[in-house]
Amino acid sequence: MKALFYSKPGIENLTFSDYQLTDLRENEVLIETRCMSVNPIDYYTITGIHGINGPKMKISPFPHIPGTEIAGIVKKKSPNSKTNLVEGDRVIIYNRLFDGTCRYCRNNKEMLCVDGGMIGLVTNGGYAEYLKAPIQNVLKIPDQIDWEVASALPVAGLTALNAIEESGLKADEYLLIFGGSGNTGLFCSQIGKIIGAKTISISSKPWVTEFGADYVFENSSALNEKIAYVTNGNMVDVVINSLGELTWSQGINVIGKLGTIVTFGVLTGGNLITDGRLLYNNQITIKGTTGGSVSALDKLINMVKTENLRTKIWKRFSLENSKKAIESIFDKNRDGRVIIENQG
Ligand SMILES: NC(=O)c1ccc[n+]([C@@H]2O[C@H](COP(=O)([O-])OP(=O)(O)OC[C@H]3O[C@@H](n4cnc5c(N)ncnc54)[C@H](OP(=O)(O)O)[C@@H]3O)[C@@H](O)[C@H]2O)c1
Ligand SMILES: [Zn+2]
Repeated sequence: MKALFYSKPGIENLTFSDYQLTDLRENEVLIETRCMSVNPIDYYTITGIHGINGPKMKISPFPHIPGTEIAGIVKKKSPNSKTNLVEGDRVIIYNRLFDGTCRYCRNNKEMLCVDGGMIGLVTNGGYAEYLKAPIQNVLKIPDQIDWEVASALPVAGLTALNAIEESGLKADEYLLIFGGSGNTGLFCSQIGKIIGAKTISISSKPWVTEFGADYVFENSSALNEKIAYVTNGNMVDVVINSLGELTWSQGINVIGKLGTIVTFGVLTGGNLITDGRLLYNNQITIKGTTGGSVSALDKLINMVKTENLRTKIWKRFSLENSKKAIESIFDKNRDGRVIIENQG
């Protein structure tokens, strides 16, 4: 098959060429890829470093095919596999491997499985004509969900849903999202609205109001006063901050009493400095989240149908041009998602 792969870390080492697809193992499904959304993690997978000042990534196999957020069509399943999936089913890939038996899996926290790892990091990913995935990672999607939204669910959508659920956000509370126009940010504001919260996106893109943001403010030193004005001085109940060092202290400044700050990423660096006095005086919770559970991804698929969750596409690339897709993920002019389409 044709695939985008590299033999040693570095964007410059990506090649689009023939890659030998091995046979299906027990309980595996062969997926013909259709649409893959590009995320920061895919860039880090290729450079081999997990973000700014981050650790080295453990990647296998080599040569390696990246790509963690994948939608496609079932082509084949391994013999005697117990599954209702049939050839032609439209599916998305839950991208965390899991054993289904450890204490985390048993508590619907497959993303924390002791025997886990991410598809696209510890296995080959989706920037190829075909992908092999464990049956339990393959979730059917209804016909009315288009490929673009489908391919935004397993990483961006799921991470946003899990973060909001873990935050305990309630109707009428204030939710503030840093990086509001980003892959995850667009889902956070929409899910916040579904819950009935008042949503504030921090973004340079005015169009985020079309994705559930009641207010949009650019990131500036005056943010504090703006948030105090909007919330009548109470400040916000939940902050979603996946931007890391650059915005961490602002997040602490805008959170109100009994508020919760959630982080699932550190885009601008992971050294998050917090004055403990600010935390205990106002009984603030800082919570880390990552990905989400299989059942949450199922729930998200239903939410797309019932709540019309959407995403915004900036650029579409063919599989042949997927290297350019990776190169554009941190483009300063990015204005929505970057996707890769396999048109067969
Ligand atoms: N743990 C997990 O499971 C998980 C899952 C998904 C993502 N993540 C992590 O979460 C972070 C966000 O992911 P994402 O996919 O939403 O990222 P993204 O699409 O790149 O969005 C980040 C947004 O933040 C703003 N931004 C980007 N660079 C910035 C900078 N240097 N300074 C200020 N604002 C900046 C931009 O919004 P504006 O232009 O609107 O300001 C951008 O749209 C990443 O670190 C990612 O690796 C983790
Ligand atoms: Zn497990």
